[in-house]
Amino acid sequence: MPRVALVTGGTRGIGAAISKALKAAGYAVAANYAGNDEAANAFKAETGIPVFKWSVADYDACVAGIRQVEAELGPVDILVNNAGITRDAMFHRMTPAQWREVIDTNLNGVFNMTHPVWNGMRERKFGRIIQISSINGQKGQAGQANYSAAKAGDIGFTKALAQEGARLGITVNVIAPGYIATEMVKAIDEKVLNERILPLIPVGRLGLPEEIARAVVFLASEEAAFITGATLAINGGQYMA
Ligand SMILES: NC(=O)c1ccc[n+]([C@@H]2O[C@H](COP(=O)([O-])OP(=O)(O)OC[C@H]3O[C@@H](n4cnc5c(N)ncnc54)[C@H](OP(=O)(O)O)[C@@H]3O)[C@@H](O)[C@H]2O)c1
Repeated sequence: MPRVALVTGGTRGIGAAISKALKAAGYAVAANYAGNDEAANAFKAETGIPVFKWSVADYDACVAGIRQVEAELGPVDILVNNAGITRDAMFHRMTPAQWREVIDTNLNGVFNMTHPVWNGMRERKFGRIIQISSINGQKGQAGQANYSAAKAGDIGFTKALAQEGARLGITVNVIAPGYIATEMVKAIDEKVLNERILPLIPVGRLGLPEEIARAVVFLASEEAAFITGATLAINGGQYMA
């Protein structure tokens, strides 16, 4: 039986590339999403990967959703916490709602998804938990106090949990992507992209979703058993922590 991998936000952008790469590597993959049924159905039709709709910001919904995934595919051995949102604003204009929404999805969502699968991984003495954080959680970014706080929180969470899982065969790691060519980033004005963003990236281009996905497949593998608590920067040299 193939191991089961669950990818949050796994139907679009980086998450879709991760879902596809894990399937190609032989895992039984489940892709979660929040609300864009059209994108999720198109993804399912294209890939044959089953999709499951719930918000990672809602703990009870995560428990119920994971139960459904496990009933259909089997126990979750690999969890990729990829779902994320932005609600950018300079801090003097940031509303409590913008703060809360980002923390609820990008940080509390990681707790909400990891907590229900943790005991099963402990019992089976195997698990791979991979957070998709961000370069902006490492270096901070003006206009993203909420996002930077949540993504830095994901890194702290990972380092703590890695210590708890280490003797139980569970690794916990973070990937911190830089600018990746998803719809969100491709929507940036071409002049801004060419004159203000690309000059910051020594490699001279945006990253590809597949370049993040490849690293996830590696961290999910048996061979990556000695890597835990690590933050893997995939940012074209833009920030070297
Ligand atoms: N793109 C970049 O350059 C970049 C750089 C650094 C880090 N990241 C991080 O990488 C991850 C993926 O980013 P992306 O650019 O691929 O994003 P994206 O294209 O906007 O896709 C986001 C995915 O997350 C899902 N999602 C959002 N809120 C959710 C919730 N509450 N519950 C469940 N699923 C939810 C979305 O579902 P729906 O389709 O239903 O909306 C969608 O599938 C995020 O954590 C982001 O912060 C991205």
